[in-house]
Amino acid sequence: MTSVVHKWNVHPDHGWLRGKRPDAPVQFDEEQGLWNVYGHAECRRMLNDHETFSSNTARLLPVTVEAALLEGDLSQMDPPAHRDYRRLLSPAFTPRRLAALEERVAALTGELLDAMDGRSEIEAVADLAYPLPVIVIAELLGVPPSDREMFRGWADDVIESFSGFSALDEEEGGNDIREGTERMRPLLSYLAGHLAERRRHPREDLLTELALAEAGGRRLTDNEAVNIANILLITGHITTSMILGNTVLCLDADPEQAARVRADRSLVPGAVEEALRVLPPAAVLTRATNADCEIAGQRIPKDQLVFLWLGAANRDPSVFAAPEVFDPGRDPNPHFGFGGGIHFCIGAGLARIEARYALNGLLDRFPALRAVPDDPPVFFETPDMVGVRKLPLHTV
Ligand code: HEM
Repeated sequence: MTSVVHKWNVHPDHGWLRGKRPDAPVQFDEEQGLWNVYGHAECRRMLNDHETFSSNTARLLPVTVEAALLEGDLSQMDPPAHRDYRRLLSPAFTPRRLAALEERVAALTGELLDAMDGRSEIEAVADLAYPLPVIVIAELLGVPPSDREMFRGWADDVIESFSGFSALDEEEGGNDIREGTERMRPLLSYLAGHLAERRRHPREDLLTELALAEAGGRRLTDNEAVNIANILLITGHITTSMILGNTVLCLDADPEQAARVRADRSLVPGAVEEALRVLPPAAVLTRATNADCEIAGQRIPKDQLVFLWLGAANRDPSVFAAPEVFDPGRDPNPHFGFGGGIHFCIGAGLARIEARYALNGLLDRFPALRAVPDDPPVFFETPDMVGVRKLPLHTV
């Protein structure tokens, strides 16, 4: 059977996507001057040791975004600041708030599917996987979901220009990041406008909560609040859109598993988890060492940049039997698709709800979901993301 990776030649340079195991779980890349970590146990240890492996990587990168854009970015923070900012966002993602959102996700999925009714060909990203998460986050923040096409223009470029890989190359990366920042400015000023409005007229939405929130004993600055809203809008929607498309592609590549999931919908959550394992939207995370350490027999000095290849760890044969096989019934499935430790994805519950509704909805409405060989899926090119950005499908 051809795997999804071989069928569409996903990231030809990533050997770990194709069953090749690296010689060692931790390796130094002399050319780039950084450490690559591929093993599951090693990634787990690093994700759980935030004192040694800091998320504040900007200090070690040859190029980085301007400091103002990092203010409020909890994904780049260590405790105690991280704790304060995380605490501020957590109430928006409690089980109670998620249960309320679930109703909206169900209704929105239904509306988007209604609009596709009767079509023998759909574009699963443009028609469903892209709009669903962006409408949900826009509603959560309190910005008009009808502006979603504007968000799309801003977000796609930003994702590629801010990859950890752009940040490694002083010249080319510097240009990418400058360009990405310029493209992001309209989104930032758009959010700033909404934030100012919430300060004048508070509403029942997350932007109002951010406008009034405190972290570390003081009110968030406008810049911090805008950056947090921006992070939610950009990271939360593209990744969710990818996992929806990736799950459909995994099923398309494996008709036997697709038939199994169609027949037994209790396997839908497992199919989403398995797609997160084999095609993780966030394939690599970066950390900076705060101290000398030893991992898998390798001494890593202080102030080194470490790349944690979650996608490779997700295929570590010492943890996952038959790691190349897409198995919606895999249990347990301790993948790192949402990271781990204190930075574990705050939106994981929401992303899971959306992916499950969308996949169930597609299976309910369409007797078949087949990729179109003449119009193949298009993937994001940045090496740190594994995700589909365009996915034409035949539905009969
Ligand atoms: C399938 C969809 C998603 C994937 C694959 C994903 C993946 C990740 C990963 C791997 C991390 C860990 C980053 C690190 O440790 O450096 C993370 C963190 C984060 N995610 Fe997600 N995410 C998804 C959906 C969402 C959604 C829907 C939201 C919000 C609406 C969101 C918001 C965040 C935030 C704010 C963080 C930073 C958390 C922290 O630093 O404490 N994500 N995500």
